[in-house]
Amino acid sequence: MNFAVLTIFPEMFESFWNHGIVRRAVSSDLITAATINIRDYAQGRHRVTDDRPYGGGCGMVMKPEPLAAAIVAARSRQPESRVVLLSPQGRPFDQPTAEALATESGLILVCGRYEGVDERICQDHIDLEISIGDYVLTGGELAAMVVVDAVTRLIPGSLGGEDSADLDSFSTGLLEHAHYTRPRTFADEPVPDVLLSGNHKEIEDWRLETSLIRTFLKRQDLLEQRPLTPRETEILKNWCQDLERIICAQSEHRADPLSGR
Ligand code: ADE
Repeated sequence: MNFAVLTIFPEMFESFWNHGIVRRAVSSDLITAATINIRDYAQGRHRVTDDRPYGGGCGMVMKPEPLAAAIVAARSRQPESRVVLLSPQGRPFDQPTAEALATESGLILVCGRYEGVDERICQDHIDLEISIGDYVLTGGELAAMVVVDAVTRLIPGSLGGEDSADLDSFSTGLLEHAHYTRPRTFADEPVPDVLLSGNHKEIEDWRLETSLIRTFLKRQDLLEQRPLTPRETEILKNWCQDLERIICAQSEHRADPLSGR
């Protein structure tokens, strides 16, 4: 995967390309990482990249000429790449989008600044617009980093353990199970016995169950969007029965005048 980021703040990416999984992916040639300074393609002594909006109003707009020239230069280096504009108006970025982007041979990520980019750039040069959430950032740089990070970790070999991305939250449609590491007891809380049992089947069952519980408690919308497997249905039905039992036990307590409640 070839990444090229077009930005007026290339320094923001120096540290980003040089840390963690992204850095390792670069050094093992799984990805290439280029940062292109849009200002290098701007004309004049001051290399201006923004201008006032036609029609008036506050804020500035990214000028089309330097952006177009920077995109053309990036495309000439990686002609097969998709050109993605990071913008709050884009398609919401999610795991399926990251998975789709990970199959591309390259991505040219255009970071907008100011009030936005000249509309003619969007029409003529952009293949896809992506938003990382319903909030407005001061520029697309952080959003580009989010996209690069999420896509890079999906490239086979980037995570070390080949199948670790397959079990992630969202890729299974569920949030990930609970994790524990040493020490065995922390803040008076022991690691669940099952994880120390060495019984892989039981551990797998426990993980699926905690994964379902977390998704139910934190993101019911994910459960509603996704068909349940027979095993998952069975787990959920068992909980229903447990809950019914607890509720029934409550009404019995109330009926008992000696219970003190
Ligand atoms: N630029 C500004 N806000 C953004 C957002 N929410 N997503 C992507 N790019 C942006």
